[in-house]
Amino acid sequence: MPNRTGTSSLKWEKYSSSDVIPLWVADMDFKSPPSVVDLAVEISSRGNFGYGVCPESLYEIVIQRSSVYYDWSIDKQTIVWLPGMVCGLNIACKVFQQSASQVLTNTPIYPPFLTAPGYSQLKCTRVPMVVVENQYEIDFEKLLSLETKSGDLFMLCHPHNPVGRCFSQDELLRLCNFILERDLFVCSDEIHCDLILEKGLRHIPFASLNGEIADRTITLMAPSKTFNLPGFGCSYAVISNIKLRNKFKNAMRGIVPDPPAMGFLLAEEAYRNGEQWRIELIKYLRTNRDLAFSEISSLPGITPYSPQATYLMWVDARGLGIENPHSFFEDAGVGLSNGADFGNCGFLRLNLGCTRSLLEKAIERMKTAFLRLS
Ligand SMILES: Cc1ncc(COP(=O)(O)O)c(C=O)c1O
Repeated sequence: MPNRTGTSSLKWEKYSSSDVIPLWVADMDFKSPPSVVDLAVEISSRGNFGYGVCPESLYEIVIQRSSVYYDWSIDKQTIVWLPGMVCGLNIACKVFQQSASQVLTNTPIYPPFLTAPGYSQLKCTRVPMVVVENQYEIDFEKLLSLETKSGDLFMLCHPHNPVGRCFSQDELLRLCNFILERDLFVCSDEIHCDLILEKGLRHIPFASLNGEIADRTITLMAPSKTFNLPGFGCSYAVISNIKLRNKFKNAMRGIVPDPPAMGFLLAEEAYRNGEQWRIELIKYLRTNRDLAFSEISSLPGITPYSPQATYLMWVDARGLGIENPHSFFEDAGVGLSNGADFGNCGFLRLNLGCTRSLLEKAIERMKTAFLRLS
């Protein structure tokens, strides 16, 4: 782990003046793959930081990966580059500003899903998920009971942040039927798609289900979470419907810049030569997940959910009977994300993307805090 203090790191600066272990924002402490780091050094040493344009070879690797990893065939012209996923979520809402009556999303959810509709003067309809056998699931009964209007937008997070679900083909097909029957559109944020931790599961892009659903879906993807490159802002949307794509591009006009040259080049390097690193990462995260899950499960009044994907663990701390579990653990020296920001008070989110020793230290601190409680 590189020393991140004093490096303008959002994650580490938050607690720079206190002894709190930062396990909040979705940013990992690991170095990016070695060849990506080497390339960044080489580019920097050239000393020129002018505007970027997407190299043809990045299109090629994105298209090739999509086919090999996800059995999803995409064309070059369907790809729209973005400097970040959150701006993609907001642009998607802007596209539907006039035509939709609401934006539906499953809660708990990554906070920008809750704020983006409002920034486009759209109502956000929260559809709480249900827990079945220790896993969150989409509540189809609830979904079917809702009133929707033709042209409404559904914002899907798949794999899901914060509950860590890699949705199954059955669930996706049920959702797909709902979308088609109700004549809705989808923005599917798939930023965590290369981080499937659970053996035997695979990511299925929502738009890959069939041509009809592809026609009404904006898919958002990026190498940023997988290879720890979020600071280089290189993401993309895949929109096969030309009308929808043009609307998306129009909504971006004059507001959203292209990714930086460094972002394009490092994204390509990571996709081309980061696979071995990614495989090692998954193994490491899986062990971190299992360690955190078994340790936290043993604490009374607190229920962790083991993520099938992502390096984020969702934790139900309501059983502790504490008004604010977030500040309770912060006072104990562990900085987690507050579930309230995701739509669920009394919950927490723990970032497993750190060294094992740091995770163990954080868990020890949590356990010590428990002793004070009892
Ligand atoms: C589901 C999801 N979407 C988007 C983002 C942020 O993407 P970006 O930094 O590219 O805006 C995150 C980061 O945690 C995320 O988990």
